[in-house]
Amino acid sequence: MRLPWGRQAWPTRRMRGLAEYINVARCLATDSLSRYTSDMVVRLEHDWERTFHVSHAIASTSGTAALHVALGALDLPRDSDVVLPSITDPGTVMVVLMEGLRPVFVDSDPRTGLLSVESLEAQLTPRTRCVIAVHLFGCPADMDAILEVTRPRGIRVIEDCAQANGALYKGRYVGTSGDAGTFSFQALKHVHCGEGGLTVFTDPQLAERGALFADKGWQRSGPNRGIVQRGLNYRMSALQAAVLRARLPRLPSILAKHRALVACLAAALEGNGLITPPSAPPGTQPSWWVVPLQTQRLIRPDLHAELSAALQSVGAPVSARYLAKPLHHQPFVRQQLGVVDAEPCPRALEFLDRTLALSIHEGLSDSHMRLVADVVNRIATAHRFHEVKHDGIDTRYSHVGSR
Ligand SMILES: Cc1ncc(COP(=O)(O)O)c(C=O)c1O
Repeated sequence: MRLPWGRQAWPTRRMRGLAEYINVARCLATDSLSRYTSDMVVRLEHDWERTFHVSHAIASTSGTAALHVALGALDLPRDSDVVLPSITDPGTVMVVLMEGLRPVFVDSDPRTGLLSVESLEAQLTPRTRCVIAVHLFGCPADMDAILEVTRPRGIRVIEDCAQANGALYKGRYVGTSGDAGTFSFQALKHVHCGEGGLTVFTDPQLAERGALFADKGWQRSGPNRGIVQRGLNYRMSALQAAVLRARLPRLPSILAKHRALVACLAAALEGNGLITPPSAPPGTQPSWWVVPLQTQRLIRPDLHAELSAALQSVGAPVSARYLAKPLHHQPFVRQQLGVVDAEPCPRALEFLDRTLALSIHEGLSDSHMRLVADVVNRIATAHRFHEVKHDGIDTRYSHVGSR
């Protein structure tokens, strides 16, 4: 394929290795494909506990299941409010609705898209029993600030780490600051087995309830044998665990590669005047699942479209927006919650309007990042963004128009 500026097509991701084949073959050879006939799932949970210094890991079938396991373990009174950001995957809100709880959306920081702690504090009421902090794009949310406002009120905190496997917040792994941390192993994640999830807990009682929730509430041994609580079948299969156990040791090199690619991209974008170079929130080491390419201010929709089309034309997997609509504007969510007159999350809307999402993977090289920067820089130059960047607001591009 002939591409503009004579570059190569973008490589697709290839994750398979010999270790996966061996582990899967072992399961198949013994006909042991389930949690209870194979030791693969329990061994994955132990691998996870050792790797991330957590006391209890419970594997499940998806990141959504992992969130449900976390909420199920908390066993909040029906009608409690659960606060969450509106820029996240649908799974984050679905489990709240499935539990009969009321989602309350808080606004996002317009620079990072992460839950705004200021907006969170303003939304807390005596009905608030839980906050779900999402580490969006692999950038850790400010957990200390979130815990500072939630702990004194006895509000539980779940960290949705689906996009942030291995990310660090002030030297701690994400998922270890709140009451529970949840992960996804869906096919686009840093390590994956097609579909899968995992929940971590520090409190052993919560962990026990989480394990029961993931297994139909069934206490399978001991004096209390029997169905002892609510639950569903979210058990991970041995085949999923076999693939993940082989891939988990590769996570450090995958993370290092993602971080190096983002560092290269940030350097190459320096001073372009159109896109803000990606940077880690203070005190964090993101996993950079997706790289947000944020315009420095709202630009006309046609220029936003030109930018994403130009990047796509060189093969870069860029979406013009991470979400077409934030969760609180999605039809089903509106139907459940009713339409409110005042917009509760204006800064989340601005973030989505301003931000393109670039997918990266460990098979890319710095040359791909320089290609992305090259495209951005050419468009910035063509539209004279370099010239206007110190001149305050450039009215040609400061208006986004009506949607
Ligand atoms: C932030 C976030 N939460 C939850 C999920 C749900 O994970 P899964 O698709 O594995 O159910 C995802 C999936 O991408 C996600 O990005």
